[in-house]
Amino acid sequence: MAEDQARISVVTGGALGIGGAITRRLARDGDHVVLVDVDETAAQETADEVRTAGGTATALVGDVTDQDTVDRIAAVVAGLGRVDVLVNNVGDFRPASKTFLHSTPAQWQRLHDLNFGHVLAVTHALLPRMVEQGGGAIVNSSTVEAFRGIPGHATYSGYNAAVSAFTRSLAIEVGRYGVRVNAIAPDLADTEQTPAAAMLRGRDAGQVPLWVPLGRFGRVEDYADVVAFLASDDARFVTGHTVPVDGGTLAASGWYAREDGKGWTNMPDHP
Ligand SMILES: NC(=O)c1ccc[n+]([C@@H]2O[C@H](COP(=O)([O-])OP(=O)(O)OC[C@H]3O[C@@H](n4cnc5c(N)ncnc54)[C@H](O)[C@@H]3O)[C@@H](O)[C@H]2O)c1
Repeated sequence: MAEDQARISVVTGGALGIGGAITRRLARDGDHVVLVDVDETAAQETADEVRTAGGTATALVGDVTDQDTVDRIAAVVAGLGRVDVLVNNVGDFRPASKTFLHSTPAQWQRLHDLNFGHVLAVTHALLPRMVEQGGGAIVNSSTVEAFRGIPGHATYSGYNAAVSAFTRSLAIEVGRYGVRVNAIAPDLADTEQTPAAAMLRGRDAGQVPLWVPLGRFGRVEDYADVVAFLASDDARFVTGHTVPVDGGTLAASGWYAREDGKGWTNMPDHP
């Protein structure tokens, strides 16, 4: 890649939430961002926002679980001549079912398509170009629930564990071509999918610091900054890992700060 050439970065689900913040951050760093999103209005608005801030972006409207969208991403990348960064950010815990016992094959299929299938499809479509050009960085979106159990979301958790396992194994295969593959595992992001206000409805917000070691919900930039690092040359010797971006919840798993400030408890009555 020539010194003065902008990196080409593809961000799926790049309009809103964590993906929107990734688009804005990479564009601010000088990348030309191809943001792929199913929400046409939000995609255009985010692309416009990037341009207003002096960056460059292409909005590609489509559902990343459709092969047609994957083909269109590959065509845009072919037109641009290269792809340096791929962020497979799309993922959703819905359609959710109260228990696995009550879940249906149609739900499993949709959760597969939304959380894991497109990661395979988009990566498979763009990887040959990264190999050909001798380098690239892929950053996938997993979740803390790939590592910690979550009742009611066993299928979602399973497919995200697959994302992390895929990340590890693919990293080994493609390291020799200069391609790095990593992931982030978010928790508690205040986004359209999981608004903090909804999570806190009917609860005492003052208790958040007892639950989250860093004492707050995540802002979208908290995740985007880690993705930007993993995609950057600063992470040139990092591959195959999933980095939790969770304010410490995974490390704390099951431990809560006591309300009286005197240490920690893992008992459900929370003394
Ligand atoms: N929010 C959290 O606390 C949290 C926790 C763990 C993991 N994650 C993961 O982080 C990622 C981003 O989450 P978020 O909360 O920012 O999501 P979000 O739902 O708030 O935003 C998702 C973005 O992707 C777009 N999108 C959704 N489905 C799409 C599809 N099929 N094709 C193209 N675009 C699509 C949406 O329009 C939106 O712009 C997801 O993979 C999610 O599973 C989030």
